[in-house]
Amino acid sequence: MILFLLLFLGWGAGPDAFADPETGRKLFREKTCVLCHKIDKPGTEFVPACPGLKGVRNRHSKAWVRKWLKDPAAVWATQDADVQDINARYFRYRGSKPRPRESFMATVVGKKIILTDDEIEALIEYLWSL
Ligand code: HEC
Repeated sequence: MILFLLLFLGWGAGPDAFADPETGRKLFREKTCVLCHKIDKPGTEFVPACPGLKGVRNRHSKAWVRKWLKDPAAVWATQDADVQDINARYFRYRGSKPRPRESFMATVVGKKIILTDDEIEALIEYLWSL
């Protein structure tokens, strides 16, 4: 059982073991994330229209962000707890009650896969440093 657990944890650490936050920082600009997201604003502020990414590591697991960056439309469609949390924050910031809405990120960037797995891991390491 313990061996199984160690194998499982080792496997889980695999993809991001060599990902580099500095590469992620560059990708954040090159892949236009920077146009929508402020890295020095908290997730409660949607400036200009997208959540600030400071402390994003406290709001999601790496596994969730991995799925999100691959296919935001599919993740949004699940309406899981993370999605509902984003939506609640969005409407709180606007001072109105939560209601269903489309994912803005999926609408604008999520129609095609724009990131390789390695790019996603580097971006996650960068996001985890914010
Ligand atoms: C067109 C604007 C736009 C671009 C470009 C964009 N995002 Fe987003 N992102 C959003 C919006 C808006 C949300 C909130 C959910 C929604 O409406 O889609 C979001 C949500 C997120 C979240 C969850 C934040 C939280 O507080 O819960 C992360 C992480 C994220 N984006 C990372 C990225 C990364 C990394 C990139 C670059 C590859 C990127 N985004 C590009 C608009 C954008």
